[in-house]
Amino acid sequence: MIRPIVAYGDPLLKKKSVDIVENFPQLSVLIDDMFETMYAASGVGLAAPQIGLNVRLFVVDGAPIDDEDLKDFKKVFINPTIVHEEGKEWAYEEGCLSIPGIREDVYRSEKLTIQYVDENWIEHTEHFEGIRARIIQHEYDHIEGILFTDHLSGFKRRLLKGKMQNISKGKVDVSYRMKFPAKV
Ligand code: NI
Repeated sequence: MIRPIVAYGDPLLKKKSVDIVENFPQLSVLIDDMFETMYAASGVGLAAPQIGLNVRLFVVDGAPIDDEDLKDFKKVFINPTIVHEEGKEWAYEEGCLSIPGIREDVYRSEKLTIQYVDENWIEHTEHFEGIRARIIQHEYDHIEGILFTDHLSGFKRRLLKGKMQNISKGKVDVSYRMKFPAKV
């Protein structure tokens, strides 16, 4: 089932999420819904807070980006912890399904090590770099209550303020279903 994506301005997106318990009700349905919702919006990542749940879960699939580096990058991250980041910070133009129409360069570390459990509750410790690390860092931020726009300079954020307020009010062109916190 496709679920509405929570738009910028909802306090839920600014809250740190909590761990999921192993017997979380209908976890596999939730994961299926998250993939379906992400594909319907042509996204490459979606975190649970973006569908209104403050739990530590996100899904990724690089398939919509036609890039050799993103082949076979369909994954479910449950209760993840980024234990290490390294490498030179590099800029990449990010967007977010909760902030449609805005894309800006964000600087992040090149490589990371992450611990998580997958949808079969198997524990992993894995290393990622480049664009894969980038997608994970963006989604991981969501479960920490951080948005990509929080990484921008104060100057840049002031420039985008009006546009972002309009997003929270639903004054934005978007092709997928959203829930706008300040829509009247
Ligand atoms: Ni996002």
